[in-house]
Amino acid sequence: MGGHKRIGILTSGGDCAGLNPVIRAVVQRAVGTYGWEVLGIRQATLGLMANPANVWPLDPKTVNSWLTVGGTMLGTTNTGNPFAFPMSDGTLRDRSEDIIQGYHQLGLDAIIGIGGDGSMAILRQLAQQGGWNLVGIPKTIDNDVGITERSIGFDTAVNIATEALDRLQFTAASHSRVMILEVMGRDAGHIAISAGIAGGADIILIPEIPYSMEKICNKLQGWQRRGKNYALIVTAEAARTQDGEAVTSINALGQCRLGGVGQDIADQICNRNIAETRVTVLGHIQRGGMPSPLDRLIASAFGVAAVDLIAQGKYDHLVTWQKRQVVSVPITEAISQYGTVDPDGTLVRTARGLGIYLGD
Ligand code: F6P
Repeated sequence: MGGHKRIGILTSGGDCAGLNPVIRAVVQRAVGTYGWEVLGIRQATLGLMANPANVWPLDPKTVNSWLTVGGTMLGTTNTGNPFAFPMSDGTLRDRSEDIIQGYHQLGLDAIIGIGGDGSMAILRQLAQQGGWNLVGIPKTIDNDVGITERSIGFDTAVNIATEALDRLQFTAASHSRVMILEVMGRDAGHIAISAGIAGGADIILIPEIPYSMEKICNKLQGWQRRGKNYALIVTAEAARTQDGEAVTSINALGQCRLGGVGQDIADQICNRNIAETRVTVLGHIQRGGMPSPLDRLIASAFGVAAVDLIAQGKYDHLVTWQKRQVVSVPITEAISQYGTVDPDGTLVRTARGLGIYLGD
């Protein structure tokens, strides 16, 4: 079992359902099986940057009830790249050494970072520069970490989006309307294609398959002629036309955010006088709520496996889900591939086979 260890754990990037079950599994395995200490680091790398570091010693009793809790009890951030950290005077400064020192001052033997591809790249850079022993766990509702079939948070997001479609179906049929559901996913259409199939959408738009507004309108009119009085459209937030760009807006902080494509499509359907159309933007609802059973399961498997990697001294690896098993992969290899929807893959073929229109 090796000697005593003190390990840190942090959650980084956008939150999602399933993070607390991972923390729970890590604590149960590390403390319960190996008798180690676990320090929860608050607010991702900000907790290490603080002096003294902002940590929460975790034990199995504390985390036991976290299996069903959404979000992350440790807090997180998806801003503030440590290598170009925004200072209060408006300048950017490299704060990486402050974070690296936090790890060493805490006397950590290893750290488990839970994040998407962006967070993982940053954590690895810190680990390489600062001599950390890092193990990674993939989480993202976008499911775009290509090496793993599943990332924590994706299944819950798909469940929520599917339930939204189930609900929209009744009101669409009652009013003979086109209902558009805009879902998240960044530049990958995983949530849209999965929820669209599971929720019985008529049209699914994903960034990987550019759409034609002309063809969508023709399709809707064809269905109307054949007596279909309503339609459900699910669009990924980054869906776009062949020559168009994803719809974005700049918020008050000057950040560019995806979103608005649903309204754009609705306006065009209405302007052509095809059907009354309404839009639902699901937004952060997809990231909240209780983790689904599958997310709890994957989170538990990842948490246990990540601790076991530390016990074996196998660092700089990410745990992944492949063919019903946890497989560890070098982090650089794991984050080198952005995982989008395969336009010739099973889900796209399934959708087309069901007569779902993909806008192309
Ligand atoms: O990457 C997760 C995600 O939820 C994306 O699907 C979405 O585009 C983005 O984060 C939203 O980010 P924020 O929480 O900063 O608005």
